[in-house]
Amino acid sequence: MVSYKELGLVNTREMFAKAIKGGYAIPAFNFNNMEQMQAIISACVEANSPVILQVSSGARKYANQTLLRYMAQGAVEYAKELGRNIPICLHLDHGNSFELCKSCIDMGFSSVMIDGSSLPYEENVALTKKVVEYAHQFDVTVEGELGVLAGVEDEVASEVAHYTKPEEVIDFVTKTGVDSLAISIGTSHGANKFKPEQCTRNEEGILVPPELRFDILAEIEKQLPGFPIVLHGSSSVPQEYVKIINTHGGALKDAVGIPEEQLRKAAKSAVCKINIDSDGRLAMTAAVRKVFVDNPAEFDPRKYLGPARDELKKLYIHKCENVLGSAGKA
Ligand code: G3H
Ligand code: 13P
Ligand code: ZN
Repeated sequence: MVSYKELGLVNTREMFAKAIKGGYAIPAFNFNNMEQMQAIISACVEANSPVILQVSSGARKYANQTLLRYMAQGAVEYAKELGRNIPICLHLDHGNSFELCKSCIDMGFSSVMIDGSSLPYEENVALTKKVVEYAHQFDVTVEGELGVLAGVEDEVASEVAHYTKPEEVIDFVTKTGVDSLAISIGTSHGANKFKPEQCTRNEEGILVPPELRFDILAEIEKQLPGFPIVLHGSSSVPQEYVKIINTHGGALKDAVGIPEEQLRKAAKSAVCKINIDSDGRLAMTAAVRKVFVDNPAEFDPRKYLGPARDELKKLYIHKCENVLGSAGKA
């Protein structure tokens, strides 16, 4: 058993309190490998932003949980070496069982999500409460979820979305003791967040998605004033990346994300954690595809993973500075 405190990590409590007060959101970027971790840390050091390093159960399977733990510990030292001791949280994304959450807590995670959103309400309450009771003994913070996001990811799948019911949030938060609440107001995971028939097309033929349900968010904030709210599925799916991918041998069809303007608006509210994974995948894929097409003789991984890492860093700095408002808040 290792405490995250020994690793130099922090939980989300203070980060979220400051973010709500300051009208910005903390970036929660997913990582699976060294280049992603380096890009996240160097970007957040440069932007002087607090950050949540997010690990999904798919990432744990891919990279090995022990390695990821040591990489997060390394991230703390790397940030210091780059010149800034920014607050870094290591968070389990979409934990689906008590055992998985416990294992992460015992391994040095400073925050976990228990995602019981697909369970019947009372079962979600019971599971979330059990995780909170364990986590709080070690000062680890817990994110719960109410409402279901649509979209298909490796470990997170649902055909249809169910918006969060504002009338349930007080009961859920009180009964479970969670530190933050993920809600469903129209975002979804992946690069195809909306079906083309849900969108309109602008003059350039680009899909414009419907607005997020800010009315539901406002109602939730009214029920839980000052309580930390989390937005999953918040990639914007930059069309410049989609274009590079598709002109360099890729085949991404009807990829559409959440417009940055709407994320800026959300970040000013009680939304204090914004989850971004797909945009990083797009940035990396665009950069790697470009090298492969432009220089087919290249076979040194550093020559394509390096540019991918540079593009990721640019993307993350942009998110902190121009979308979430977390730059300068470390
Ligand atoms: O919410 C899902 C994240 O994007 C993680 O995706 O399960 O494919 O690692 P993953
Ligand atoms: P995106 O797929 O929109 O990046 O969402 C990621 C996420 O919510 C991770 O939990
Ligand atoms: Zn998610």
